[in-house]
Amino acid sequence: MPDTKSEIFNKLASYVLRRYQVNARKSMLDVYQVDRDFLRLEKDNLEFMYENRPGIIAILNDPEYSIDLAGVFVRSSLEFTYSSNQFVNLNQDEQQRLIAMYCNYLQGMKMVLQESGTFAEFEKDFSNLVKEHFKDLSNNISRFFDRETGWQVQENIILKQVVCSEYTPEFQLDLLGLKKEDLIEPVLDLGCGKNGTLVKYLRQSGIKAIGVDRIVDQDPSLREADWFDIDFKTDSWGTVISHMAFSNHFAFHHRYKNGRPRQYASLYMEILNSLKPTGSFIYSPGLPFIEQYLPDDRFSVQRQAISEKNPTQRDAPSNPDRQADVVKVKKLI
Ligand SMILES: C[S@@+](CC[C@H](N)C(=O)[O-])C[C@H]1O[C@@H](n2cnc3c(N)ncnc32)[C@H](O)[C@@H]1O
Repeated sequence: MPDTKSEIFNKLASYVLRRYQVNARKSMLDVYQVDRDFLRLEKDNLEFMYENRPGIIAILNDPEYSIDLAGVFVRSSLEFTYSSNQFVNLNQDEQQRLIAMYCNYLQGMKMVLQESGTFAEFEKDFSNLVKEHFKDLSNNISRFFDRETGWQVQENIILKQVVCSEYTPEFQLDLLGLKKEDLIEPVLDLGCGKNGTLVKYLRQSGIKAIGVDRIVDQDPSLREADWFDIDFKTDSWGTVISHMAFSNHFAFHHRYKNGRPRQYASLYMEILNSLKPTGSFIYSPGLPFIEQYLPDDRFSVQRQAISEKNPTQRDAPSNPDRQADVVKVKKLI
């Protein structure tokens, strides 16, 4: 039986992660509708909690441990949300809201542990707490979507599954028409994916590159940040690459009626200004609705349709509005 605080903490965290793994294929719609599987509690988890009541209560009374435990929940929730629908963005305010909800849940857990006299009582009270917690999560999700769709909740874009894959470095370079030797340093991979495989691949070839994504593995070449929080300094990047990331999200916000197209447009200009003279921003899909307005004395725009480039490219992203192009915007001066 684990007896130190850190052993109990690790065990609790492993149960949390296991629950997220078991439910990894569920959608935001499932959370919104409080799918029954979320309420199913594993016996070994319940028994562990009941048997280790004093140790768990000590953890929940310790501000450092309990905030760390809330952190495990919040990070898992972010990963779940983004892998379910990559167009949902949980900014700092939303993350604070989630932290508050999980802290509240943990306080409820402490009370249940303190007050249940028997295992049966604990099981019943804890199940009720989990139900209440999922109601809170469901209400929180409902803040994100359009009220107008009313009962047609399944049709809501926010609740749909929108896959988010990571592609191999070779695939990305080939699709973007890039050769390692042609890249101007330093290289920024914007929305590089959790593993940042392209960044690691370029660095193995001696190219100065870093990647940014809202969730990244711990690695010296990867930074965890929202692209809206990056300070894009003028004349600093030789090449900015964004494969199926920034422009995909910009295109979504351009079309989605509750989107933030203006914020994306102004960030797009910041990215272009952050290029060194002769540096390039290379991305896919294309953004014809804004590229056409770029001043041609400052930027050159090269566009290539993916189908023309490689007609057999079966893994290429789908092309709803003929925007599935590769675009290279070069800063001239
Ligand atoms: C389809 S994946 C592409 C990943 C990678 N570029 C590749 O091709 O393998 C899109 C990436 O954009 C990231 N992303 C989306 N919104 C973001 C934001 N606001 N800030 C930073 N990264 C973001 C996602 O987390 C995701 O890893």
